[in-house]
Amino acid sequence: MKANFLKFEFLSQATGLPQSEPSYVGCLTLNRPEALNALNREVLTELNQFLGWVAKQKIRALIVTGAGEKAFVAGADIKEMKDLNEAQAFRMAKNGQEIFQHLEEMPFPTIAAVNGFALGGGLELAMSCDLMVASEKAKWGLPEVSLGLIPGYGGTQRLARYIGKSLAKRVVLTGEIFSAQQGYDWGLFAQVCPAGELLSVCAKVASTMAMRAPQALHLAKEAIRQGLDQTQSEGLVLEAELFAKTFATEDHHEGLAAFIEKRQPQFQGK
Ligand code: CAA
Repeated sequence: MKANFLKFEFLSQATGLPQSEPSYVGCLTLNRPEALNALNREVLTELNQFLGWVAKQKIRALIVTGAGEKAFVAGADIKEMKDLNEAQAFRMAKNGQEIFQHLEEMPFPTIAAVNGFALGGGLELAMSCDLMVASEKAKWGLPEVSLGLIPGYGGTQRLARYIGKSLAKRVVLTGEIFSAQQGYDWGLFAQVCPAGELLSVCAKVASTMAMRAPQALHLAKEAIRQGLDQTQSEGLVLEAELFAKTFATEDHHEGLAAFIEKRQPQFQGK
């Protein structure tokens, strides 16, 4: 796929996969370092096209990161927002929300490698991945109120689901910028690691996921995502339904047989 502000590659050295297999782990880099990878209209349009494209590839896990040393993504493009009226701002928020929801609903696991500033729309992008791993140097926050705005790409909704209502209000209502360690302590980041190890740590987690049964991963993601918006009783019904669906896959025969035969399973994604 051709893009001006995105780079994509399959990780050739993804660990843990059989050497004979192609790498199933991809890495998407938001590549607008001169503006700290801020999300302007073009970046978002390309991201949307990319998601449509990547969903059709042979991919089993995706890492998302930002170009350069300094930033993951420093937010929505502030310069583009300057002259928006209310109706345009509504369309902007809906558009970003839909693209991030598309990312959240990808059928394979997604990992945000938070390599620097993840602010506003940048944190909202990272939170739309399945999990976030941060470099020790990363800084994060939802500083919109210091611009006279509120988060518009899902921040008020997703952050509270990650860290709870009280801490989410602390973050959103102060607009403060926090350390990676603070994000880990509050349960936002799954892991914090030295900057130089970020991509290899993410590749290792992604590769472990890529070895599992692809349809089971998709169904497990759906069970958690949809279940969080339901009561526990509704979520348990959903879990039973999706558990049953795994029994319609060929891969479940392979997984159970491999255990009984004491060998590694070779999942085909069927
Ligand atoms: N939009 C547009 N350009 C941005 C940007 C953004 N969000 N963040 C940084 N840039 C640009 C800067 O304008 C600057 O460009 P120029 O060299 O052309 O002036 C370049 O990136 C480098 O940035 P700084 O010089 O500011 O770098 P710094 O190291 O001094 O500061 C920073 C880094 C603290 C991240 C600072 O850039 C900053 O505060 N950025 C804005 C963060 C922010 O408020 N994000 C939320 C945006 S609103 C939003 O996202 C709404 C939503 O939910 C949808």
